[in-house]
Amino acid sequence: MNILGIETSCDETAVAVVEDAKNVVSSIIASQAAEHSIYGGVVPEIASRRHIENITQLVRKCIESANLTLNNIDGIAVTFGPGLVGALLVGINFAKGLSFALKKPLIAVNHLKAHIAANYVTDKSLTPPFLGLIISGGHCNIVRVKNYCEFELIGETVDDSIGEAYDKVGRALGIAYPAGAIIDSMAKLGDENAYIFPKPKVEGSMYNFSFSGLKTAVLNVINSEKMQNKVVDIKNIAASFQKTACDIVCEKIFLAAKRLGEKKIVACGGVCANSRIRSELKKYSELNNIRLYLPNLNLCTDNAVMVAAQGYFEFKNGNFEKNMSLNAQSNVKIG
Ligand code: KG4
Ligand code: ZN
Repeated sequence: MNILGIETSCDETAVAVVEDAKNVVSSIIASQAAEHSIYGGVVPEIASRRHIENITQLVRKCIESANLTLNNIDGIAVTFGPGLVGALLVGINFAKGLSFALKKPLIAVNHLKAHIAANYVTDKSLTPPFLGLIISGGHCNIVRVKNYCEFELIGETVDDSIGEAYDKVGRALGIAYPAGAIIDSMAKLGDENAYIFPKPKVEGSMYNFSFSGLKTAVLNVINSEKMQNKVVDIKNIAASFQKTACDIVCEKIFLAAKRLGEKKIVACGGVCANSRIRSELKKYSELNNIRLYLPNLNLCTDNAVMVAAQGYFEFKNGNFEKNMSLNAQSNVKIG
């Protein structure tokens, strides 16, 4: 079964065809990051406009490079949230039009569930149940994945997401948006013990995250060094920040796995491309005798392969739209 995936929740217009949630037939991503970096973050109005300009030709290109015609598509999966409403609506409305014209099912996909599904494409032997870790630009969640379509939220960030912390620290260091990958490379050249940054105490669930305190502590150090006319050592700050962010993530997810008796951890999201987080998650997994799944690097940040993959499971589960009333939901949760 060939599912066409469409992703427009933020600043990537992405289209893919995936067969049975396993084989990537074709995948295209048009990133707007360079344009948004001028403003230090995503400008929603610009994102929507670029999606509108890109979507038709990307779908055409994707279908052509798959050596298919639109009639070979069995369903159209589209991200309906969470994300920027105006941006989401571009993908949703395009998918609705296509579904109506082709008389093919329209499948609504939660962006966070899609991130998890990137792992089914990466490792074809992976099956639920497992414990999911979503670390992205907009989210930081621990979820119990009971089956392909049933999720239980175990922990979430009470303030900033981890990707947001990376991007805001990057901005203070003069690194263009999105800063995660550059901080990752800078960190490799620095001393991670140069600064000791705080790990927060979080109210509510012991599985909740907080990154705002860490972000503020790093910004305070940068500002104070600038005020004293000291040269800010970007590499040392990047390394020390990355160490702390990484420790927070690893400690929480392995605490959750231990207490909930989970033996499989599946990580995903843009920040899962981080070299230190990947290697630390591997180390902790070996120590704790847990099987770890990480998505291929090209499936960590936003893409449409993951949307098509999750769309396949939603469709198989009978979750497709019965009419054309699908709307964007900026804050939809996963559980
Ligand atoms: O999953 P994603 O593409 O978008 C959301 O759904 O939010 O994640 C984007 C985030 C950005 O904050 C970016 O800085 C971060 O992922 N990121 C990284 C790395 N590559 C991307 N963060 C840390 N290390 C990386 N190597
Ligand atoms: Zn995402």
